Amino acid sequence: MLTEKYKPKTTKDIVGQNSVVEKLKYWFVNWKPGSRALFFYGPPGTGKTSIVTAFSHEHKLELIEMNASDYRTPDQVEKVAGAASTQNSLTGRKKLILIDEVDGLAKGEAVAPLVNLIKNSSFPIVMTANEAWDLKIRALHEVAELMQLKKVMPSSVARKLKDISTREKIEIDDGTIKSIAENSAGDLRAAINDLESLSSSFRESKVSIFDAVRKIMKSESAKDAKSSLNSVSEDPEYVFWWIENNVIEEYKDPEDLANAMRALALADLFRTRIRKQNWKMLGYFIDMLTAGTAIAKKQKYSSFVMYRPPEIIAALGRTKKVRALRKEACKKIGKYLHESAAGVNAVYLPFLKIISQNMDVAASFGLTEEEMEILKN
Ligand SMILES: Nc1ncnc2c1ncn2[C@@H]1O[C@H](COP(=O)(O)OP(=O)(O)O)[C@@H](O)[C@H]1O
Ligand SMILES: [Mg+2]
Repeated sequence: MLTEKYKPKTTKDIVGQNSVVEKLKYWFVNWKPGSRALFFYGPPGTGKTSIVTAFSHEHKLELIEMNASDYRTPDQVEKVAGAASTQNSLTGRKKLILIDEVDGLAKGEAVAPLVNLIKNSSFPIVMTANEAWDLKIRALHEVAELMQLKKVMPSSVARKLKDISTREKIEIDDGTIKSIAENSAGDLRAAINDLESLSSSFRESKVSIFDAVRKIMKSESAKDAKSSLNSVSEDPEYVFWWIENNVIEEYKDPEDLANAMRALALADLFRTRIRKQNWKMLGYFIDMLTAGTAIAKKQKYSSFVMYRPPEIIAALGRTKKVRALRKEACKKIGKYLHESAAGVNAVYLPFLKIISQNMDVAASFGLTEEEMEILKN
């Protein structure tokens, strides 16, 4: 996972949140028992968690991290968090407590012990959440300073993506980086995941998918358009989604666009026949996709268009981690149940989900917290 590999190690690696980092420093230095906690809120993937972990790393703090959603009952909040807030650090390092995702607190009543904890804590506490104004966590406003994190600006997202692709030796043009960045809506985690799923498809193809898409849309001859697929090792279906997603931007004349859509609709018909193992249809599918799209226009459009990856591909990238976690969890459980991972997934998982509400299934099967999340969802 690139998001893990490039997790900010110091606050210098954080992009676009200068005032938040400054605020954290100032608050931490001035904090004394009785002071307010700090409450970071804002959209996902903007650095709420990373800023705290990077800051702790940089200042060699002992960071005590807890995910609020792990607390099922008010007692647990008290037990876990309370201990952390009163014991002196064994290492002699300064402590910082992070209570992540407090909007995921299991029940509203878990908030009251948290408020108490903050009031009595011997150590500074930072909380995070996507939303701060939810009624069930309103009480936290009394004991915390609120700090809003804004979406990361596309230019900053692009800079980070560029940096990562240089270090990873991913060959990707600036236009594509820019379109991923704009597509990310300020969510840097999503943007990095998109970059990762795109780059794995780059590695697999001889000629980049962008060249093929460009050739199909720019060429005026059916033959040229058709040959565009010769040098791409990409599955034609994949090319189809790329064309489908980008032709609207490229073909400015509505009549051209209508013709192209007609060609794609036909291609799509042939595509579904291929799915039913009717391989003769593959040739027609490719013809409609390439030549059909190319000659749908009266003439070539010279303006530059940034081709965007189809949503369907980006979505696959985003769910990749979830799928990997699920597989890992199923494997572990399978060892105990003498069942394959696939078998656990199909037969046992639905029941384990229910059982896990009342029983510590994670401990029985040696699951990590992250793997446990899979069972909860
Ligand atoms: N402002 C940022 N600067 C640098 N990296 C970021 C930033 N925001 C998110 N990331 C990247 O996205 C990943 C997830 O960020 P995270 O801090 O967990 O987001 P949040 O807690 O706001 O949902 C990080 O590991 C990092 O790779
Ligand atoms: Mg977070």
